[in-house]
Amino acid sequence: MTTPSTPTTATHFDVSARDWDQRPMSQQLASVPARLLAQVPLHADDHVLDFGAGTGLLSTAIAPQVAQVTALDTSAAMLQVLHEKGFANITTRQQDIFAGLPERYNVVVSCMAMHHVANTAALLQAFADALHRGGRIALVDLVTEDGSFHGDNEAKGVQHFGFAPAALQALAEQAGVTDIAFSHLQEMQHRNGRAYPLFLMTGCKA
Ligand SMILES: C[S@@+](CC[C@H](N)C(=O)[O-])C[C@H]1O[C@@H](n2cnc3c(N)ncnc32)[C@H](O)[C@@H]1O
Repeated sequence: MTTPSTPTTATHFDVSARDWDQRPMSQQLASVPARLLAQVPLHADDHVLDFGAGTGLLSTAIAPQVAQVTALDTSAAMLQVLHEKGFANITTRQQDIFAGLPERYNVVVSCMAMHHVANTAALLQAFADALHRGGRIALVDLVTEDGSFHGDNEAKGVQHFGFAPAALQALAEQAGVTDIAFSHLQEMQHRNGRAYPLFLMTGCKA
């Protein structure tokens, strides 16, 4: 087991894990997997890496369609909740994304995890390095916001107030990702009365 490089984030998620799926925000995010899968066809022999898998929002929806899902997260408690869901072809892996990965994948997916990592260029490079040639990314996160989405950003380990698609595309291209496309996935209705858009970013490792 490796030592997470983001202990603040892990602590917040460890504390929240048992109630994670019941949170109003998680219930809104429940529509993300079907929307993602409608745009990102998967294959029966694919091995998918879910970065920041948490309790398995994406992993559990993807697992029935593919050979294997590796659910990677620094939070042992979040992964324990996922493990208890009993999917035979989901392997949980508790480590930091930057600790190195033992194999390569056909697809890297992620939902609402990238904004917890400070170095986005290094993160996208880690995704590209984790893929086979021709492998694909499908990444969901917040479009640039003003910091009001999470509220207590420091306690929640928030490193970015969403992302500007053009800036993210430039970093992904530097990492060797091509055919990059963005789509509007859905809006998150916040109790503050505002709506926060989520993007889906897709691309392919050259
Ligand atoms: C907001 S949660 C999203 C969980 C899940 N994808 C969902 O949408 O419900 C972000 C997750 O990313 C994980 N995470 C943050 N930084 C990480 C890192 N450097 N390596 C691996 N996982 C990380 C956290 O532990 C947390 O479970």
